[in-house]
Amino acid sequence: MNISFRMDAKFCSYFSYSKIFTAIVIALLLSVPSFVSAQDSTATAAAPAGGGDAAKGESIFKNNCAQCHAVTDERVVGPGLKGASSRHDFGWLSKWVRNSQAVIASGDPYGVKIYNEYAKAQMTSFPNLSDDDIKSIFAYVDQAATAAPAAAAAAVGGASGGESKGEGPSDLFMIVLAALVVVMLLVLGVLVVIVSLLSKAVSGEVTDTTKPDFMTSLGNSLKRISIDPAIRSATLWIFVLLVLKATLDGAYSVGVQQGYAPKQPISFSHKLHAGEYKIDCNYCHTGVNRGKSAHIPSANICMNCHGVIKKESPEIQKIYTSIENNQPIEWVRVHNLPDLAYFNHAQHVNVGGLECQNCHGDVEKMEVIQQRSSLTMGWCIDCHRKTEVNTKDNQYYDKLVQLHASESKEALKVADIGGLECSKCHY
Ligand code: HEC
Ligand code: HEC
Ligand code: HEC
Ligand code: HEC
Ligand code: HEC
Ligand code: HEC
Repeated sequence: MNISFRMDAKFCSYFSYSKIFTAIVIALLLSVPSFVSAQDSTATAAAPAGGGDAAKGESIFKNNCAQCHAVTDERVVGPGLKGASSRHDFGWLSKWVRNSQAVIASGDPYGVKIYNEYAKAQMTSFPNLSDDDIKSIFAYVDQAATAAPAAAAAAVGGASGGESKGEGPSDLFMIVLAALVVVMLLVLGVLVVIVSLLSKAVSGEVTDTTKPDFMTSLGNSLKRISIDPAIRSATLWIFVLLVLKATLDGAYSVGVQQGYAPKQPISFSHKLHAGEYKIDCNYCHTGVNRGKSAHIPSANICMNCHGVIKKESPEIQKIYTSIENNQPIEWVRVHNLPDLAYFNHAQHVNVGGLECQNCHGDVEKMEVIQQRSSLTMGWCIDCHRKTEVNTKDNQYYDKLVQLHASESKEALKVADIGGLECSKCHY
């Protein structure tokens, strides 16, 4: 006992407690950025074998593939792309992505099989993607597919929330990080108290550590902590770093609501209504063929059926209450473009002949509605560059098609009819 105490005494007088403290603080400071960068490095990790730039791939994927494919093995409109790059060689992948219909038509056994498996749903062709683009897409897919479970595992005991989307740092991670920092600071505080107690014991100030003495000593230590400049600047730095990180994360996610799926006032299920009961989207969203807005159905439309179906259910009773009180159901809006942009449903659905699923994903499988596409300007433009105008049975386009054909060998794209002009989308 005596011996070890003397060792401590020597130790303490040799390195004064404030020096030890400073050392710990420096270690702590170094560890904070390394946490942050360890996490960032999962987002920018080197591309897997085969080359390709995962960051570039991410944006291509999100703008072109995400509405139909997940990076996990979850089925969306098409199969989950996890592992696709090992299922196929690159030659097959690039042919498939550029024109899957040609691959199927050539009798490729896998292509035919998967086409039938997906009820002959036609994948969009992407003739404009270069080899490099396609490599980048799969570099991103491979990386996102491996990053998702790893990040989830790091978040001890937590649910893996939106991790599978591979959309960068999760809230959970930040909470764990913050908790770690707090714990470290506490440990640090206790260490300082112990060190100062020991040094005092050695110098004879305190001979026993009974309660009152311990308390006064604690008070003194705290006072010294608060005036020690090293500690003050260290605390400041930790604070600044955390605030900086939070601000950066916030800035990146401004206006990006992909994956947004708020809880609705009535647990209305598209999976049940549009999926199992196959009720047509237009039956409820009456505006899609006619105007700008698709419209959210009023309670009266629900009553066409729920006047008789499942009246006793508490969820259905909410519809009754809304009608009795003459108060519309307050659905939470999911998709929302900023006011500066103009989007028209009829133009796309009625004139363009697009399916809702092209932009909204497979709504008929969603229990809770979710925003699947990014809805960014890049997303609109990308589709306008690639999509051919639906000119069939539309006399309005006959002249244009002729004119275009005389100038170019390529099919008439939305871009060719003014789909990239600022004023078409901005007031
Ligand atoms: C409009 C929906 C849609 C879009 C957009 C789409 N795909 Fe597909 N994809 C499908 C469907 C459906 C299948 C299943 C085969 C079929 O029915 O043609 C498929 C199959 C695949 C396969 C084969 C999967 C496997 O497991 O072997 C790959 C690879 C693929 N798509 C890659 C892509 C890439 C890369 C993009 C974006 C550049 C993309 N797809 C965009 C619908 C889509
Ligand atoms: C029985 C009526 C009904 C049918 C059928 C229906 N919906 Fe809906 N839809 C609603 C209601 C009610 C809401 C608002 C509540 C919610 O968000 O779940 C909604 C919300 C939506 C939204 C999100 C709106 C927003 O706030 O951004 C989209 C997108 C959507 N529906 C697409 C579809 C598509 C695509 C189909 C067909 C596959 C479809 N709906 C079929 C009733 C219906
Ligand atoms: C065309 C008919 C039809 C329309 C219109 C319709 N529903 Fe339904 N709804 C059904 C059917 C069928 C069921 C399944 C009933 C069952 O499980 O027995 C159902 C079930 C439900 C349920 C689940 C009830 C429970 O407790 O299981 C809710 C909630 C619901 N509907 C809400 C709505 C809302 C809100 C609207 C209007 C936006 C609406 N429905 C419009 C046919 C309809
Ligand atoms: C070309 C892409 C595209 C297609 C196709 C499309 N939507 Fe939309 N949808 C959007 C965008 C973008 C918004 C957001 C509009 C806004 O905020 O002004 C939206 C919003 C909605 C909303 C929310 C209410 C509103 O009108 O703002 C509903 C409901 C909806 N869509 C249903 C549908 C249905 C049903 C179909 C198919 C019949 C469909 N959409 C087809 C892109 C599309
Ligand atoms: C899935 C592909 C797709 C997406 C995504 C898409 N569009 Fe379009 N868009 C089309 C097609 C196809 C047409 C041509 C319709 C026609 O034949 O007039 C079109 C036409 C338009 C036009 C009319 C252009 C013209 O010269 O007449 C405007 C404006 C427009 N889109 C705005 C938008 C905006 C804003 C967004 C994003 C919020 C968007 N689109 C997203 C496919 C898309
Ligand atoms: C096909 C439709 C479309 C066309 C064409 C288009 N935009 Fe946009 N733009 C959008 C949409 C949708 C948004 C809102 C979503 C977003 O912020 O990404 C937007 C947002 C913007 C913003 C705000 C960006 C921000 O981050 O808030 C600016 C500035 C802008 N566009 C400028 C232009 C200019 C300049 C052109 C012509 C060269 C143009 N846009 C052409 C659809 C379009």
